[in-house]
Amino acid sequence: MKLKKLVLLSSLLLGLVPLSRAQISGTHHDFRSGVEAAYNPSGEICIVCHAPHNNDATQVPLWNHVTTSATFTPYTGYNTHFTAGQPDGTSKLCLSCHDGVTAVNAYGNGGSLQDTMSTPRTLLMGALSTRSSMGTDMRTTHPVSFVYDGTLTTANPTLWDTSSTSHLGHSIGVDMLDKNGKVQCTSCHEVHGTAYWKFQRMSNVGSALCLTCHKK
Ligand code: HEC
Ligand code: HEC
Ligand code: HEC
Ligand code: HEC
Repeated sequence: MKLKKLVLLSSLLLGLVPLSRAQISGTHHDFRSGVEAAYNPSGEICIVCHAPHNNDATQVPLWNHVTTSATFTPYTGYNTHFTAGQPDGTSKLCLSCHDGVTAVNAYGNGGSLQDTMSTPRTLLMGALSTRSSMGTDMRTTHPVSFVYDGTLTTANPTLWDTSSTSHLGHSIGVDMLDKNGKVQCTSCHEVHGTAYWKFQRMSNVGSALCLTCHKK
């Protein structure tokens, strides 16, 4: 029994066992309960972020939330090998709630977009203001929205090559970077929920997440 557990544990650590399926229900991103339910009378889950129709044409995928228009202070590296710009891609979607400025409930009709509900929304939840808010100063968070490729790994040999294993089934490039080869919030988080706390894509025990990309 003990041995079995040990084998399972080490297999998990080595990434040999497929991790459990993402599950958004019951997470902080399921706005059917808690404080958030008050401004989501639909009883739906997806609607605060995606709708089938009439979404923001400038954002993918099917974005039903107001997109942040904040100007962010870019990350300034200690010894980075890229120039950070404004957040883009999926990071911009996350920051549309986590920037500490944009109202979390600015979606659907509240944000002049699709809404399946007829109830007018009078309650304004406002922006996230606690630890969940990244704010607009990107110097305070791991850099995002920059390309991680061969040029970067040549310049910085303490990074694993993007063809190295992600421990998530494929390579870092396939599993952790977006279609433009960029690191984003979604490199480390799965917005639809995981088996790990804080929507982390893998256990960070022993800093396994960090060590996936950094040779330390
Ligand atoms: C809190 C916001 C949020 C909620 C709620 C949410 N999503 Fe998403 N979804 C995102 C973001 C951000 C992305 C883009 C990043 C990514 O691919 O993970 C995305 C991507 C997707 C994609 C395309 C990428 C993929 O995984 O195939 C699908 C499909 C999707 N969501 C379906 C759903 C469905 C169905 C629900 C409801 C059960 C849902 N989402 C709820 C934010 C959300
Ligand atoms: C998806 C890959 C990936 C993951 C996962 C990752 N990092 Fe990074 N990290 C990078 C890349 C790429 C850079 C930019 C390095 C460069 O420009 O030389 C970076 C930059 C950094 C920097 C800034 C270095 C500087 O010079 O300013 C620190 C510190 C850091 N990461 C720590 C962490 C920690 C801690 C974790 C785990 C919580 C982590 N990283 C997870 C890819 C990753
Ligand atoms: C529609 C708004 C919305 C969007 C979009 C959104 N979040 Fe959240 N997120 C929230 C709310 C609300 C909470 C709960 C905050 C709290 O309780 O303080 C939360 C909590 C979290 C937490 C903490 C979870 C915990 O268990 O404590 C993480 C991590 C997180 N979000 C990451 C992301 C990432 C990464 C993205 C983009 C891929 C994203 N979020 C997009 C609204 C959003
Ligand atoms: C390099 C990996 C990495 C990147 C990139 C990253 N995060 Fe995280 N994030 C983490 C880890 C790991 C934690 C859990 C921290 C801990 O152990 O306390 C976390 C925690 C959080 C929390 C919860 C904070 C709290 O104290 O409750 C939020 C919200 C969050 N991240 C949002 C984001 C958003 C939004 C982005 C993109 C702008 C982002 N993260 C980018 C790794 C990352």
